[in-house]
Amino acid sequence: MSNTGDDRFIGVFDSGAGGVSVLRACVALLPHEHFRYFGDSANAPYGDQGEQRIRELSFLHAARMIDEGAKAIVIACNTATSAAAAALRETYPDLPILGIEPALKPASKAGGRILVLATKATVQLDKYNVLAQEHGAAGNVVTVPCSGLVELIESGDLGDPAISEYLQRKLGGYVGKVDSVVLGCTHYPFLKRQITAVLGDVAFFDGAEGTARNLKRHLEQNGLCACTSQQGGVEFESSVPAQVALYKRLFEQAP
Ligand code: DGL
Repeated sequence: MSNTGDDRFIGVFDSGAGGVSVLRACVALLPHEHFRYFGDSANAPYGDQGEQRIRELSFLHAARMIDEGAKAIVIACNTATSAAAAALRETYPDLPILGIEPALKPASKAGGRILVLATKATVQLDKYNVLAQEHGAAGNVVTVPCSGLVELIESGDLGDPAISEYLQRKLGGYVGKVDSVVLGCTHYPFLKRQITAVLGDVAFFDGAEGTARNLKRHLEQNGLCACTSQQGGVEFESSVPAQVALYKRLFEQAP
């Protein structure tokens, strides 16, 4: 790594506010880096759209950030990672492109009965099904697609009774039957308190910290780290500019 470091920004994107849960982990681990966060709230939810459309949107955001000088891209979205990460890496082989997947691997290591919450598209795409075959001991994993939940989170009021009612309806039948919950959509870590209110004491797993560690490793291996004497920062952008206030609020919120 050079003495001056690499000051270019790291581009992070999601369908909306969810990727902020990944951004937070990245900033905590890499405080000297500059991050630019883009939420595509205008096109959320991605999880109810087809693979081709999710891939097109992901290419649009990644290509723009790369054109603007990003040194690495973080796909802070399980759905977009499943639909587009492999194709993006093929198109941009010289740039680290990190993704996120439902944290089934650490959850299955911990053992017990596992509930995986994710978008409809994530659970339908091959990537998740391969993961579930590799790390889901037979009978121990239940996967619940949560269509409609992202819209409730994007509305910005996490105390909205409609969220508790939704979770009660979806998860009420699993009370006492699960030990761990895998938050397989980056929007869901903001609902840990509400999920605990339905399920009681469960262990949560999400991929944010793993993605941050991967990003750090890639930056180090490729000589892309920022200078450690500089203070990093975050800029927020959205396809719905009014949503930036929500991204900032969630970013400041304790994990
Ligand atoms: N936050 C995203 C994920 O991790 C996508 C949510 C959506 O737009 O459906 O899957």
